[in-house]
Amino acid sequence: MWKYQALIVSLASTAALAAVDISKFPSKTDPTHFTIPSIPQTTSHDVATECQYYQSNFTVDKTQWPTVWDIATSNNMNTSAEFMSVYNAIDWTKAPTAPVRKLTAAGGLNLTGYDTVNDPDCWWSASQCVKPKASGVNPDIYACPEPETWGLTFDDGPNCSHNAFYDYLETNKQRASMFYIGSNVLNWPYGALRGLKDGHHLCGHTWSHRMMTTLSNQEVLAELYYTAKAIKYVTGVTPLHWRPALGDLDDRVRWIASQLNMTAILWNLDTDDWAAGSTPGITADTVNQRYKDFIQMGSNGTYKDSGNIVLSHEINNMTMDFFVNHYPDIKKNYKHVTDVATCMNIAHPYLEKVITFPSFDASVNSNAGTATGSGVIPGASSAPSSGNSVTPYTNFYNGPLFIAALFGLLLVAV
Ligand SMILES: *[C@@H]1O[C@H](CO)[C@@H](O)[C@H](O)[C@H]1NC(C)=O
Ligand SMILES: *[C@@H]1O[C@H](CO)[C@@H](O)[C@H](O)[C@H]1NC(C)=O
Ligand SMILES: *[C@@H]1O[C@H](CO)[C@@H](O)[C@H](O)[C@H]1NC(C)=O
Ligand SMILES: *[C@@H]1O[C@H](CO)[C@@H](O)[C@H](O)[C@H]1NC(C)=O
Ligand SMILES: *[C@@H]1O[C@H](CO)[C@@H](O)[C@H](O)[C@H]1NC(C)=O
Ligand SMILES: *[C@@H]1O[C@H](CO)[C@@H](O)[C@H](O)[C@H]1NC(C)=O
Ligand SMILES: *[C@@H]1O[C@H](CO)[C@@H](O)[C@H](O)[C@H]1NC(C)=O
Ligand SMILES: [Zn+2]
Repeated sequence: MWKYQALIVSLASTAALAAVDISKFPSKTDPTHFTIPSIPQTTSHDVATECQYYQSNFTVDKTQWPTVWDIATSNNMNTSAEFMSVYNAIDWTKAPTAPVRKLTAAGGLNLTGYDTVNDPDCWWSASQCVKPKASGVNPDIYACPEPETWGLTFDDGPNCSHNAFYDYLETNKQRASMFYIGSNVLNWPYGALRGLKDGHHLCGHTWSHRMMTTLSNQEVLAELYYTAKAIKYVTGVTPLHWRPALGDLDDRVRWIASQLNMTAILWNLDTDDWAAGSTPGITADTVNQRYKDFIQMGSNGTYKDSGNIVLSHEINNMTMDFFVNHYPDIKKNYKHVTDVATCMNIAHPYLEKVITFPSFDASVNSNAGTATGSGVIPGASSAPSSGNSVTPYTNFYNGPLFIAALFGLLLVAV
């Protein structure tokens, strides 16, 4: 019994102590009080207007960042003093020894030679494994535990063309977990700020969207580190959750993420929305049928004891529209539609504790009054909300912690 308790204590402390201190990233934003400039790119619903390049307040010193959309060790980041100190803070002798995977000529993962039956590395791409076998690794989140609950997630943002979509979510007071690509955050910083302003749960989605198991330890670390740094620089919060491109995750990659105190969020239902029309066998009808099946599962008993996490994408009008078209039926067939931090009761999904998410129960109670009929308000007509100084509408302001964080910032600035 004593041994058992000691083991729990030691496991808990391993999980709480990350090897790398990422609390000193610079930022230009106070996440509790900021302004998004009201320019056509942040207010228009016209894609060409939204996607015109703009010079933002978030100037990028190119010597401090990897090349946008290239592997995050590019631009000599891996030989920089900053990255080397991060890399050297990690005890790599403890890292799982799973090999770096290979791509086939066609660009897919080469699974040849991997023992998928015993799945020694809990390689999701081979087996959809979500329960790590290595020690010192944060286990994946892959389904909301609450019954009849749709865990709402969108990958690959922030992209320029999302204003109508974010307005629609805001009008419906609907929060989601948003998995942001570091390169997109630097390209479209006001898009990332909009995600924070609307109270979405911001998570990392790597710097360059490569298959993570095919990257070296150094490259994996850089992909995670520079994405967190970009999100912090622009929004003032450092994400503690992330998602690998295409779910490509094994215990080696999980262990490296755990050194940054980051936990992977996967999914248990995949809309394949991004693939419609571009991948053989997947059409708009395929994706619409997926949505219809997933919707039916909300009321036919499939999720009577626990919920799901659904993978969908921000990428473009097609992917966002699939969701908008099905949202009224999702609301009718599920008791709850929430971001993942809320359904997991994660009060502090960022390193900075100035943003607090409500518990699942609190979020359910605060929404109960507005749920009439399908509870969905048709979008597109809501007034653009940028240009004002706002506190994210669903987040609670925590005075004492905010002051503590300010002290932290002052100390760091010295
Ligand atoms: C790790 O993250 C948790 C929240 O997930 C936080 O409470 C803790 O302070 C973090 N630890 C470090 C060392 O960053
Ligand atoms: C950002 O730039 C705009 C001009 O484009 C300026 O009006 C605004 O005050 C700046 N905001 C911050 C937070 O620096
Ligand atoms: C830095 O990264 C590049 C690209 O991934 C690689 O070719 C090079 O060997 C790395 N340099 C060091 C010192 O690790
Ligand atoms: C996959 O890797 C094996 C070696 O492990 C190799 O023999 C095979 O040609 C590769 N397949 C493809 C499609 O690249
Ligand atoms: C997609 O484009 C159509 C036509 O321009 C527009 O009505 C709709 O609002 C757009 N959807 C989203 C989610 O942006
Ligand atoms: C619920 O609906 C899904 C999707 O149509 C279906 O695959 C599943 O078998 C149904 N389950 C029950 C218990 O009817
Ligand atoms: C961003 O949005 C534009 C316009 O919808 C689209 O053409 C482009 O492919 C998107 N890029 C990414 C990286 O999602
Ligand atoms: Zn993606």
